[in-house]
Amino acid sequence: MKLQLPSALTSQQFLEQYWQKKPLLMRGALPNFKTPITAEILAGLACEDEVESRLVSGCRELNNWQAKLGPFDEETFTELPDKHWTLLVQDVDKHLPEVHQILEAFRFIPEWRLDDIMVSYAADQGSVGPHIDDYDVFLIQGEGKRRWQIHSQEVSEDDYIDGLDLRILPEFNAEETWVLEPGDVLYLPPNIAHWGVAEGECLSLSVGFRAPALRDLTTAWCDEIIEQNVPKQRYRDPELQQQANFAEITSETTSQISQLMQQFLHQDKHSLQRWFGRYITEQKESLSTEPFEDALETEAFYKKFLAQKKLTRDSYSRMAYAHGEKVDLLFANGEAFELPAEGSIFLQKITQQRELQFDDLKIWLDKTCYQELLTTLHNRGCFFFTTEE
Ligand code: SIN
Ligand code: CO
Repeated sequence: MKLQLPSALTSQQFLEQYWQKKPLLMRGALPNFKTPITAEILAGLACEDEVESRLVSGCRELNNWQAKLGPFDEETFTELPDKHWTLLVQDVDKHLPEVHQILEAFRFIPEWRLDDIMVSYAADQGSVGPHIDDYDVFLIQGEGKRRWQIHSQEVSEDDYIDGLDLRILPEFNAEETWVLEPGDVLYLPPNIAHWGVAEGECLSLSVGFRAPALRDLTTAWCDEIIEQNVPKQRYRDPELQQQANFAEITSETTSQISQLMQQFLHQDKHSLQRWFGRYITEQKESLSTEPFEDALETEAFYKKFLAQKKLTRDSYSRMAYAHGEKVDLLFANGEAFELPAEGSIFLQKITQQRELQFDDLKIWLDKTCYQELLTTLHNRGCFFFTTEE
């Protein structure tokens, strides 16, 4: 699947001109798009415990918005009215491989920035109200029609109607209105106010990105530094000089503190690279990978891979890789693994393919380090064999 950008725009030009900058309506960007999920399957997912879902009802005129969190039971769906409600299910890409496939159209953006595909099914006039999101999103029209309105006026973070579980904007003056049909895609950068209302029943898919809050990122990095680099001992000043005024914090003291802090905070690129890969591949709590119960020894793993030929990626697993100066790094679900810096495409293959073929990896599997790595990833639950006994 490929995203057909308008007016012969290349993906690089899209990044330069639109990504994080301004909205772009892409008519027919996914030609002949067939939604790989039905309203019934979506409702079924919303009844499962590990699936995050919401049912939003209400309309602007009555300002009677309500949000209920899943899991739901079948009865909930039979009792719904004909109009004014939406069922939204997060992370459908992790639950259904056929929805995951859609991500192939968005591979011009690094995977670590990706969050999920959310799928929504709305009854006629269903909507979650005018709002802003913190993240970039590609809104794909799957089935039916949805009228999208946007405005780009400043909206403050606290500018929401009080007392609702939803972040709905009290003011919304549309600057643009588009009715999206199947295969149309609307890109919105963060903080653009938008409001999508179903015209008849409709199914929409949102490819949502994530961006760590700078404070969370820095806090996590400082925690890492403290853990790895800062001794437990207390401040010491064996060279203390008598000072003229006891209440003064002298310039020498400030310099000393500054030196001390810089010594702790200074980190080489390798440590940062190693930490960031671990941090960014951590899984959401509700979507964590379970380790495989009967861990295999490397030799047993190799034999099994040779016999079965295929290993499948666990759909909750988050993976990434990096080429360091001295070693290559593989990141999987918050862990880092080191490999010799051979510049090989082994890491690219195992992080970008959903199915690993023995024959395709054979040249690396003759080496112990690659064998051991794949064995560990299998035992951690990142990959599994179709028949595990
Ligand atoms: C929806 O699919 O109904 C809402 C998506 C959004 O506005 O982010
Ligand atoms: Co939104």
